[in-house]
Amino acid sequence: MKLKKLCAFVLAGMMAVSLAACTDGNGPEPSKDAQSQTESSNAESGSQKTDAKGNKIGISMPTKSLERWNRDGSYLEKDFEKAGYNVALTYSDNKIDQQVKDIEGLIADKVDLLVVAAIDGESLAQVLSEAKNQNIPVIAYDRLIMNTDAISYYVSFDNYTVGKLQGEFVADKLGLANAGDKKFNVEFTGGDPADNNAKFFFNGAMDVIKPYIDKGTVVVPSGQTTFEQVGTAQWDTSKALSRFQNILGSYYSNGTRLDAAICSNDSTALGVTQAIQSDYAGNNEIIITGQDGDEANLANIIDGKQTMTVYKAVANEAVATLNLGEAILNGEKPDASLIEKSGWSFDCTYDTSSYNNGSAVIPSYLLVPVTVTKDNIQKELIDTGYYTMGSDGYPHPVQ
Ligand code: GAL
Repeated sequence: MKLKKLCAFVLAGMMAVSLAACTDGNGPEPSKDAQSQTESSNAESGSQKTDAKGNKIGISMPTKSLERWNRDGSYLEKDFEKAGYNVALTYSDNKIDQQVKDIEGLIADKVDLLVVAAIDGESLAQVLSEAKNQNIPVIAYDRLIMNTDAISYYVSFDNYTVGKLQGEFVADKLGLANAGDKKFNVEFTGGDPADNNAKFFFNGAMDVIKPYIDKGTVVVPSGQTTFEQVGTAQWDTSKALSRFQNILGSYYSNGTRLDAAICSNDSTALGVTQAIQSDYAGNNEIIITGQDGDEANLANIIDGKQTMTVYKAVANEAVATLNLGEAILNGEKPDASLIEKSGWSFDCTYDTSSYNNGSAVIPSYLLVPVTVTKDNIQKELIDTGYYTMGSDGYPHPVQ
C-alpha cells in the first residue's frame, strides 16, 4: 500500500513539474511531456481521473467578426487537444439564439465540460440549467454569465484594470494632475451593454477621469458620461463610427478642440478613429485608447492614428482555462493553489469577491492586462511571440 502511495506521490510531483514546464507564458501549447504525463497518470494511478481522451470539451465562442475570439477559440481548441481531450468548438455569429442552440448541441453531445464566452451574459441561464442538471461543469470564459447557478468558475482578465489603464494613460498624457487652469475635452465610447465586461471597462476609466471632471479640468462637451449613454451594441465598429460622427457634428463643428477619445476596445476605437479622420475639423493630436491589439488598430498605432491599446494575452487565458478544466475533470475543487500548482509564468490572481453573477460570487482567475503603445509593441507583442513584424512594417498575429 505504502509503495503504491509513494509512486503516486512521485508521479504527481513529476506531473506538476511537466505542467509548469509547459506554460512558459510564451507558448500557449502544453508540452508533449504534459500530455504524456496525463496519459501515464491515467494508466498508473487508476485514480478517479477519467482518461483525458474520453473527456469531451464543449467550447462556445461568440463570434468570428471580433478579431480576438478567433485567437481564443484556436488556442483553447489546440491546448485541450494537445492535452488529450476531444474538443467541439462553436462560433455563434454574435447571434444570441444561435449561441443557445450551439450550447444545447454541445450538451446533447454529452460534453464533460463547457467553456462559454457569452454574447449576452443575461441570455444563457435557461440552457445552462440543463448543463447543471446533467452535472456538466461550466467555465465562464472572459465574460461573466449572469443569474445562473450553473457557473463553476470564471476565467478572464482584470476587467476593471483594463479600463483603469485606459483612464490613467489619458490622465498621464494630458498631464491632468498638474493641469492648473487648463481644460481638456474628452469623450467616452463604451462597449456592448449586453457584455458584463463593458461596464467594468467603463467604470475603470471613469473612476480615473471623474475627479478631473468634478474639478472642471476635464469637460465632456457631449455630456455623455454614463455607461448607458456611451454603449456600443455588439461592439460594432460602424455603430461607434456613426455615434462619434454625430457627437463631432453636434459639439465640435464650431471649432471646439477634442483632446482624447476613451474607447473601451479596438473595434469601437476603429470607428471613432474613422469618424475623427473624416469629420473632425481640428488638426491637433487626439489621444485614442483601445483594447485587444487588433491588427488594424496596431497598424493605426504604428501610423500614429491611435495612441494605445490594452493587450490581453489570450494565449495565457487559454492555458489557465485548460489547467482549470483539467483540475475540475480530475474531481478537484480548484482554488488559489491552482496557480502555484500549474506553474504559470504569467501573473494571475484568484478572486473570490469581485464577480457576483446574481446567483453567487463566482471564483475567478484574473490575468493581468498590459498597456501597449508604439514604443513597446516590439517588447510586449513581437518578442513574446504573439505577433510577427511583417515586411509591411506592421505587426501581424501569429495565428
Ligand atoms: C469583451 C472582451 C474584450 C473586447 C470585447 C469585444 O468582452 O473582454 O476583449 O474586445 O469583448 O470582443
